[in-house]
Amino acid sequence: MNTVLAEAVPDKPRARASRQARVALLGTGNVGSAVWARLAGWNTTPLAGRISLVHVANSRHAISNRFGVPDRSDALLLSSGPHTSSLESVAPALAGKGARIVVDATASETVAERHAEWLAQGIHVVTACKLGQGTHLSRWRGIRDACRIGGSRYGDSATVGAGLPLLRSIRDLRDGGDRIHAIAGVLSGSLAWLFNHYDGMRPFSALVRQAREAGYTEPDPREDLSGEDVRRKLLILARAAGVELEAGQVDVSSLVSPALAVLAKDDVDAALPALDAPLRTRYAEAYKRGEKLRFIARLEDGRARVGLESLATDDPLAGGAGTDNRVAIWSDRYRTQPLVIQGPGAGAEVTAAALLDDVLRITAG
Ligand SMILES: NC(=O)c1ccc[n+]([C@@H]2O[C@H](COP(=O)([O-])OP(=O)(O)OC[C@H]3O[C@@H](n4cnc5c(N)ncnc54)[C@H](OP(=O)(O)O)[C@@H]3O)[C@@H](O)[C@H]2O)c1
Repeated sequence: MNTVLAEAVPDKPRARASRQARVALLGTGNVGSAVWARLAGWNTTPLAGRISLVHVANSRHAISNRFGVPDRSDALLLSSGPHTSSLESVAPALAGKGARIVVDATASETVAERHAEWLAQGIHVVTACKLGQGTHLSRWRGIRDACRIGGSRYGDSATVGAGLPLLRSIRDLRDGGDRIHAIAGVLSGSLAWLFNHYDGMRPFSALVRQAREAGYTEPDPREDLSGEDVRRKLLILARAAGVELEAGQVDVSSLVSPALAVLAKDDVDAALPALDAPLRTRYAEAYKRGEKLRFIARLEDGRARVGLESLATDDPLAGGAGTDNRVAIWSDRYRTQPLVIQGPGAGAEVTAAALLDDVLRITAG
């Protein structure tokens, strides 16, 4: 991509601009748009004085203004000009006094590769994207080390549970001297919805189609059913708990059969009924025992696995409703009864709020 940076029509310079944290927002999709809209909603509140949005980009266009880019209602500016987006523009766009913060609301590998570089330059990174911390261990370590080098901070509250206090609780427990014994949970909103609704009567494939139409799954539901997204989330939680696993050390039992996995995207819908018989059998076995099927991520004794489990109805993870995430944490102080955290773990609004909470925490020092 070429480096052509749009300089938007300047707003009135704000007197406090030099002391505000300067923020670059990458991604204007579901989450990025919600961040931009939430920031615009702060215009008349005291929070507005703490953050100046100086750069907004998606993969095609960028807009920069050292006095603050216009609010979301002027988003057309972003798409109307011939301005292409380049990650090289981000650091220069943030130059100036005050904290410099990149907000990553993309799902981009290229952007995730840059996190450590920005952090080492003293630029804080706040991210909803799991590719920074939830893939290779070397990248996770690179991010940790870059924070030390740059004296910068990495905001990751939005990566697991869309801001539910999961990572924060794990870190608080460890800071308080606890060892984390185990973590287990329902970490995918779409898989939570599917197994909260599956009753063994309706074909599972019909539920998958319904979930896709409601926007709970990705357009290609294999991305959810494969458990890969859950693998990344479990890696992030495990590493925060002090268990530095390689991605390959998580044992993932995909719901997608090898035959379904290799199909072209356009052929997936017609092949979804292949899921029905195996899941009906699993459901019937669980039902006979009075148990419930849940798609669980589990870290125990240094081992990690992801897959469908049959749980007793009084298991802390068997409850929950809709697309809720539900996570149980066992530690020195929560030995027998785990700490259980439950709530909406997906959605643009809560994710945007989690990103901006992290930004505000950084600006608070
Ligand atoms: N949606 C949720 O409920 C949720 C919850 C928690 C976490 N997340 C995470 O949040 C991230 C964003 O999700 P989303 O649903 O908003 O995705 P999305 O709607 O697909 O938006 C992704 C955005 O990233 C932009 N982008 C891609 N490469 C870029 C680059 N090199 N530079 C700048 N922008 C780039 C895209 O640009 P174009 O518009 O040009 O394609 C698009 O605007 C993902 O990592 C997702 O896993 C989402």
